[in-house]
Amino acid sequence: MNSSYVNLLILFLVLAPNQHVEAEGFPSEFKTWHVYVVNELSNNKSLFLHCKSKDDDLGIQNLSPAANFTWSFQKNMLRTTLFWCYMSKEGNAHAALKVFWQDVLLFRKCLWKSCIWSAKDDGIYLKDFVKNHDEFRLQWEPGLWYTNNINIKLYTQG
Ligand SMILES: *[C@@H]1O[C@H](CO)[C@@H](O)[C@H](O)[C@H]1NC(C)=O
Ligand SMILES: *[C@@H]1O[C@H](CO)[C@@H](O)[C@H](O)[C@H]1NC(C)=O
Repeated sequence: MNSSYVNLLILFLVLAPNQHVEAEGFPSEFKTWHVYVVNELSNNKSLFLHCKSKDDDLGIQNLSPAANFTWSFQKNMLRTTLFWCYMSKEGNAHAALKVFWQDVLLFRKCLWKSCIWSAKDDGIYLKDFVKNHDEFRLQWEPGLWYTNNINIKLYTQG
C-alpha cells in the first residue's frame, strides 16, 4: 500500500461515522415532512378524521374506503412541531393520538420523510419503514368522545 492510499483509508474511516450521524440528524431539522392518514377499514366503511396542530386546524375529513388525507410542513430546529388527530368509525368507536411529534424513534420509522398512519378494524397503525411493517399503536375506544378537551389533553402530553 502506498501512503496516500493509507491516508485516504484513514480519512474515510474517520469521516464515515460522522456522515452517518449527519445523515440522521441534519434532515430532521430542515426538511419537509409528510403525514398521511389512510382509511384501511374493511367493508366499505368511511373514516371520520380531524387533525390539528397548535396553530393549524386541518379540518374535518370524511375519508372514503382506501382514501387518505395528507399534509406536509417544514420543521425547523426552533420549532417543536406536534400534530394530533381524532378519528372515529361507524359512529361508535374513536381514537385520538399524536401523529407527529419530536421523537427520533418516530423519525426513523418515517424514514425522516413520511409518517403513514392507517386506521384498520382493530386500531391505528404506524408504518415502520425500517422493519417494513405496520406497527400497531392504539386500539379503538368505544363511544365518540369528541370535544375540545381532547385537543388540550393531547397537546399537553407534549
Ligand atoms: C360503498 O359505500 C358507498 C357510499 O356509502 C356506496 O355508494 C357504494 O355502493 C358502497 N360500495 C360497496 C361495494 O358496498
Ligand atoms: C394516498 O392517495 C393517493 C391518491 O389516491 C395515492 O396516490 C397515494 O398512494 C396514497 N398514499 C398512501 C400512503 O396511501
